[in-house]
Amino acid sequence: MPETAAQAAAQSSQEAEITAALGTRSVVLVGMMGAGKSTIGRRLAARLRLPFLDADIEIEAAAGMSISDIFETHGEPHFRDGEARVIARLLDGGPGVLATGGGAFLREETRERIRRKAISIWLKADVDTIMRRVRRRADRPLLQTADPAATVERLVGEREPFYQSADLMIWSREVPHEKIVDECFDALHVRLCREAAGATISDTAAPDTLDAIE
Ligand code: S3P
Repeated sequence: MPETAAQAAAQSSQEAEITAALGTRSVVLVGMMGAGKSTIGRRLAARLRLPFLDADIEIEAAAGMSISDIFETHGEPHFRDGEARVIARLLDGGPGVLATGGGAFLREETRERIRRKAISIWLKADVDTIMRRVRRRADRPLLQTADPAATVERLVGEREPFYQSADLMIWSREVPHEKIVDECFDALHVRLCREAAGATISDTAAPDTLDAIE
């Protein structure tokens, strides 16, 4: 967060550069349950003065029932189809900051849509951090297993190859939320300014860490 008037002015001009470069594209947060996609997404949206959207909440509103009830009544494949449709609709309404559910980025069609209509940030968290956070809420159907830690470990292994194709990667860890938001903001600024300066696709193929691009 800016501490002086000069820092505030610099941040506000960076914010304008980011939103100008985004155009109608959104910023999409991907990653495991408990990675902080909604918490960071909401704050990042406020920083960028863009609307914040949470795909899980939009799915519940569209279905008129909770995610747990959708899983229980209709099954996971039905949930995934609805999730893909809702995310497609939200991406068409950009720009905004969109937090996606942890499984959404596994679907090729959704990854492709996000690639075309957004800049994606993988919020990466380790299993211990995820477990500490997901223990606070018991409403995630995929974690209603005898050994949720083993389930998280398996899902992380299965999903990371997909998350790795996000445009940017930021480590989500136990530091103040604003620090993670700052890192997302800075990484977006570097990426979008480089893009605006005409970087080639091959330069941008792998997810960046802040360390790698500073
Ligand atoms: C899921 C993650 C959840 C929600 C659903 C399935 C997943 O969202 O979409 O329970 O497959 O990882 P969060 O990542 O926001 O918890």
